[in-house]
Amino acid sequence: MPSPSATEPVLILGGGLIGLAIAHQLARRGRAVTVLSRRRSEAAGFVAAGMLAPHAEGLSGPMLALGQASLALIPEWVAQIEADSGLPCGLRPCGIVVPFATAAEREAWPTARFGVPLGRAELEQEAPGLGPTFQAGLLFPQDGQIDNRRQLMRALERACVERGVDFEEGSEILELHTEAHPGPPQRSERLSGLTLVGADGRRRTLEGRRAVLACGAWSARLLPQLPVRPVKGQMLSLQGPRQALGRVIFGPGTYLVPREDGLLVVGATSEAEAGFSPGLTPQGQRQLEEGLTALLPAAAAWPPMERWWGFRPGTPDQSPLLGPGPIEGLWLATGHYRNGVLLAAITAAAIAAQLSPLPADAGSSLGSLLGPFGWRRFAVAMASE
Ligand code: GLY
Repeated sequence: MPSPSATEPVLILGGGLIGLAIAHQLARRGRAVTVLSRRRSEAAGFVAAGMLAPHAEGLSGPMLALGQASLALIPEWVAQIEADSGLPCGLRPCGIVVPFATAAEREAWPTARFGVPLGRAELEQEAPGLGPTFQAGLLFPQDGQIDNRRQLMRALERACVERGVDFEEGSEILELHTEAHPGPPQRSERLSGLTLVGADGRRRTLEGRRAVLACGAWSARLLPQLPVRPVKGQMLSLQGPRQALGRVIFGPGTYLVPREDGLLVVGATSEAEAGFSPGLTPQGQRQLEEGLTALLPAAAAWPPMERWWGFRPGTPDQSPLLGPGPIEGLWLATGHYRNGVLLAAITAAAIAAQLSPLPADAGSSLGSLLGPFGWRRFAVAMASE
C-alpha cells in the first residue's frame, strides 16, 4: 500500500514549462494533479529560444552534470509528450557552434573538451556567412534546440489534458497556508492550502498538503525567503531562407536559433536591474541587432517577424532550486535562469520521482543529481539578511 502522502492530489503552482512538465510526469505516474496558472503567455517557456545547450552555455560542476543528464533524457521525454498529445514538439538535434575571435579564447571555454575545435575554414562550413571577427570556434554536435514557443508548450499542455491533469487558468495565488508540523524541527510548518483569486475574480481557499512551487521569476512573491529574482530578456525573430543556417550560433552576448522553416530567433538581453519592468527598449533591441549583424551580416536584411520580452528566474549562483522546500509538503522547482528548457526534462523526472516514487526508481541517480540544488544552500545567507 502506498503511504497516504504518495496518493494525495498535487497542486502545481505555475503553468509554465516547468510546472507543466512536472504535472505531466506526475499524471503519468497516476497522480491527481491540478495546475494553477495565472497567465500562460508570461511563462519563460513561451519566451525562451529553446536552446538545449549545456556545452555551448559553458556550464560547469553540478550544473553541467544536471544539464548533460537532462539532455540525455530529452529524446525519451519528447517521445512521451508526442505520444500523449499526438503533436510534434519540434526537437532539432542540430548542434551548436560557439564562435570566438581567437583560438586562445576557444581553449579557455569551460566545456572546450566536449567540443570539436574549428578554424575559420571549418567555421564557414558549419555557419555559412559568419561575420569576419570570428576566426575560431567550437562545435557541440550533442547540443540542439526545441521549438518551445510554437510547438513544445502546446504539445505539453495537450499531453497534460490527455493524461487527466486539471487546469485553473487565470488564477492568481495570493498566499500559502501552513499549520504546525509535528515532525523534525528543521521544518516546523507544513502546507495546508492556499488562497487564490480565480478567473472569475473571486477569492477562495483551496486545501492541499502537496504542492510544487514552479512560479519562475515570480516565486519569491509566494515564498519571500527564496532568492529568486527576474532577469529580463528581450528577443526578436526574422524570417530567413529555409536551410540558410543549419546550426545554432551561440555568439558573445547574442545567439541565433534557426528553426526548421527558416525562422531565426535572436536572443537575448540579460537585464537583472530591470526588475519586472515590461516592454521592449530601444537600447535592448539595438544590442540584439548589433549582435546579429556581427554574427551573420546577411541576416540583417531578412524580414523582421516578432519582438518580445520575458523574465528569467535568476538566483545568486545562477542554478535552480530543486527538491523539498522550507515547508513540509511543498517542493521547489524554480530558479532555472538561462536553462529552463534544457532542464525541464530532468526537473520533471526527478520531482515526480520524489513526490510519487515507483519501485523502478530505486537505485536511480536522480536524487544525487538534485542534491546540490536544495534551498538550504542559501539558508545561511537568508537567515543573516
Ligand atoms: N538560454 C539563453 C537565455 O536565457 O538567454
